[in-house]
Amino acid sequence: MCGIVAYIGKKEAYPIIVKGLKRLEYRGYDSAGVALLNNGDLNIYKKQGKVANLEEHAADKNRSGHAGIGHTRWATHGAPNDVNAHPHYSEDCNIALIHNGIIENYDAIKQRLVGNGYIFKSETDTEVLTYLVDDIHKNAGVSVAEAVRLALQQVVGAYAIVVISKDNPDQLIAARKSSPLVLGIGKDNDFFLASDATPIVEYTKKVVYMEDEEIAIVDLNEGLKLYSIDEVEKTPYVQELELQLEALEKGGYEHFMLKEIHEQPRSIKDCFRGRLNAEEGWVSLGGIKDYEEKMIKANRIIMIASGTSWHAGLVGEYLFEDLARINVEVEYASEFRYRNPIITENDIVIAISQSGETADTLAALELAKSKGATILGICNVVGSSISRITDAGSYTHAGPEIGVASTKAFTAQVTVLTLMALSLAKRKGTISETKFRTMLSELEAIPQKVQQILDKNEEIKIISEKYQDASNALYLGRGSSFPVALEGALKLKEISYIHAEGYPAAEMKHGPIALIDEEMPVFVIATSGTSYEKVVSNIQEVKARKGKLIAIVTEGDDQVDNIADHTIEIPDTDEHLVPLLATIPFQLLSYHIAVMRECNVDQPRNLAKSVTVE
Ligand code: F6R
Repeated sequence: MCGIVAYIGKKEAYPIIVKGLKRLEYRGYDSAGVALLNNGDLNIYKKQGKVANLEEHAADKNRSGHAGIGHTRWATHGAPNDVNAHPHYSEDCNIALIHNGIIENYDAIKQRLVGNGYIFKSETDTEVLTYLVDDIHKNAGVSVAEAVRLALQQVVGAYAIVVISKDNPDQLIAARKSSPLVLGIGKDNDFFLASDATPIVEYTKKVVYMEDEEIAIVDLNEGLKLYSIDEVEKTPYVQELELQLEALEKGGYEHFMLKEIHEQPRSIKDCFRGRLNAEEGWVSLGGIKDYEEKMIKANRIIMIASGTSWHAGLVGEYLFEDLARINVEVEYASEFRYRNPIITENDIVIAISQSGETADTLAALELAKSKGATILGICNVVGSSISRITDAGSYTHAGPEIGVASTKAFTAQVTVLTLMALSLAKRKGTISETKFRTMLSELEAIPQKVQQILDKNEEIKIISEKYQDASNALYLGRGSSFPVALEGALKLKEISYIHAEGYPAAEMKHGPIALIDEEMPVFVIATSGTSYEKVVSNIQEVKARKGKLIAIVTEGDDQVDNIADHTIEIPDTDEHLVPLLATIPFQLLSYHIAVMRECNVDQPRNLAKSVTVE
């Protein structure tokens, strides 16, 4: 994880870097630091904690300079403290370096450098890389840029780095492998570097997404030069950013998470815009159209993902199997890649990822690709690593998701999976024309139904008050509502730190029922449909043990209402689409409970949004 930002040009670097670091804090907030070049001095300030701590620390110091690098850290090697914070720098303070990723062979390199007389201040792998560059620069008598290139040839692992040095005050050196790095070309002969485009967008829309094992040298006199790690000069592919600045701001909401929950009527609509027409009766995902025949004929489809995206995959499994009768397996990326999985050329692997940068998902995809499978992606971040290595895919178009807890990305992923399932079912002939058209109309109506649920915010807040002091919670659902239960539990635990578990409702009696007493809130999805009566029985079992029951029900339900402590009604819809609605009250409940417990909703402890380490 970690976020990196750098600037070189005519403007003051510090405000640009600090603002950029705040945008990247979702990537980690264990410490923050900057290095600024000013009249031959390299001033380095770093501080444990958030960017605000760094600002306070640097407030009375010299923050001038037209070139600088900045970092916000999610600790991997070494505790989150001032010393381990980036930038790291050479003993003579000539070279400073920021890094996102992990240098796996750092220990062997460190032993060698210790032998050469280097004394390490920190416990980080990044300081090892910094000293390695310094060592090569001095002993081989090469430029810092060349030393970076040679050092990276010795490195095993993942990196996005930016290097600044007093030797070349008009130059920044950047490189990446497996960790993202975007380069912005300013209007004023200036350059920006960042882990994603958000720190760059207000200055320029011209960007280059750097590829693996590329090194960029941005020089105020010579402009941008791009090389492969083995020194072949490359032509930069300059793209126009579509990102809008407003999408990165809170827009009057107290937290990004709340804003993103409320954006869902729009984000779901954006997701199916131009891809579905209920009146004319068609659905079409341009990105995967050429692969649909292959998907229908595939041995099986394997969906790989992590966290919330994995939950979306589980919903996808129900949709693909029931509507298109295609065999689907859903795998945790982190488990799949280390299991020596049996993959053939007849398999299709779909990676689901909001960020498109999750290290485990990327590695699992690479493994599947190496075994000949067709690899597809469902990503939110345009130009992300996963979207670039896949054969084809569909973007979710949810817009930037900044709150660390995923909300609108989840509903957009489920929307794309629904569109895919419908399109495949139609092509394969496993869905009747009437059912197909009904589902298209129902899907088109989802944004307005989501809005109806959001309008119950106050009612949900009142229910949340009752459970803000809970220590544990159970979430139950059957069929495609089971992944919604898992997602509800994940939302609660990650932002409110209340221990929560999601279970298939009928599994409760095989163990978790032992936990139920009058203190235990049990959240159940009990909407109308095939398993309604069964869920009602499970609800009775909870009440018989005096559990507190909060049920999501279909509008007009009175059976559950008579038993449950609280019911939250959601509009009626096709059973396949219930996850898109039932998840909304759970998002709001978690949000309110976390706010009442005074937790940091947008940046929960120990978490980062983009998990670029394994
Ligand atoms: C939970 C959450 C995480 C992510 C997971 C995968 O709210 O956000 O569980 O879903 O880290 O991230 P992506 O989707 O970016 O691959």
